Amino acid sequence: MAFLQWKTEYSVANEQMDKQHQVLVEMINKMHDAMKMGKGGSEAEKIVSEMIEYSAMHFAAEEKLMTQLNFKEINQHIVEHKAFMTKANEFQKQINSGSFTLSMEIANFLKDWLTNHILVNDMAYAKVIKKQ
Ligand SMILES: [Fe+2]
Repeated sequence: MAFLQWKTEYSVANEQMDKQHQVLVEMINKMHDAMKMGKGGSEAEKIVSEMIEYSAMHFAAEEKLMTQLNFKEINQHIVEHKAFMTKANEFQKQINSGSFTLSMEIANFLKDWLTNHILVNDMAYAKVIKKQ
């Protein structure tokens, strides 16, 4: 079984967002697999930078959608996205400096963060979509 499995309960009632969340789930699985196989160095750097790039693109798309929805809690949501990017950049710095390899700590952090963020924060704007 995959480390993290996308479930229908994660759906935010927007096809584009669901697809992007599924890509993030796959990226976390890839990271977990690389970690399990003991891959460090350039492979770890590549996976983490891909994840950061994709997350930035996804957050921008999500923030645009929330603006279109006139979502009231958008500012708090943006704070959450920024906190994630800060943490991910920290991981990347540590990995690039060789002081850190892909670890269970990173894989677990990403898994917990994404599932919690989708189920709590993203579901708040999903409610607005469902009302329309
Ligand atoms: Fe979000």
